[in-house]
Amino acid sequence: MSQSSILILHGPNLNLLGLREPEVYGSITLDQINNLLKEEGKRLQVRISCLQSNHEGVLIDAIHQARDNHQGIIINAGAYTHTSVAIRDALAGVKVPTVEVHLSNIYQREEFRHHSYIAPIAIGQISGFGANSYLLGLQALVRYIKLAE
Ligand code: DQA
Repeated sequence: MSQSSILILHGPNLNLLGLREPEVYGSITLDQINNLLKEEGKRLQVRISCLQSNHEGVLIDAIHQARDNHQGIIINAGAYTHTSVAIRDALAGVKVPTVEVHLSNIYQREEFRHHSYIAPIAIGQISGFGANSYLLGLQALVRYIKLAE
């Protein structure tokens, strides 16, 4: 059987990781996170594609394209988590199994971060483990996909 392909989507401002509020997000850069995910992908025998965008429509187009090209999505939608019905509708529309991840624990932070539009249509959410949230999310997603095969 051919390898599953996983799309990693990073939303707005995550390109600034390393510089951005290091007391909240740590010093790791987005490139370093993507490299860790690619290594973990090799170990789990899945293909990994990574995309970051500051634009809601670009993220939505990537979700639509995932329908034909990827078996799972890991998404850190950044602030769009708390605002974007459109990203939630795209994920619900394509029905590609999705895990929501956050570097910070969004429930320990400002109240406006406590609500996620994505959580109700995701398989699950991992929040608060820094870069490990992505790696844990990838492990959980791959296990979910393999069990469903
Ligand atoms: C974040 C949490 C969001 O509230 C915030 O807007 C981000 C990053 C996280 O990974 O902790 O941009 O998604």
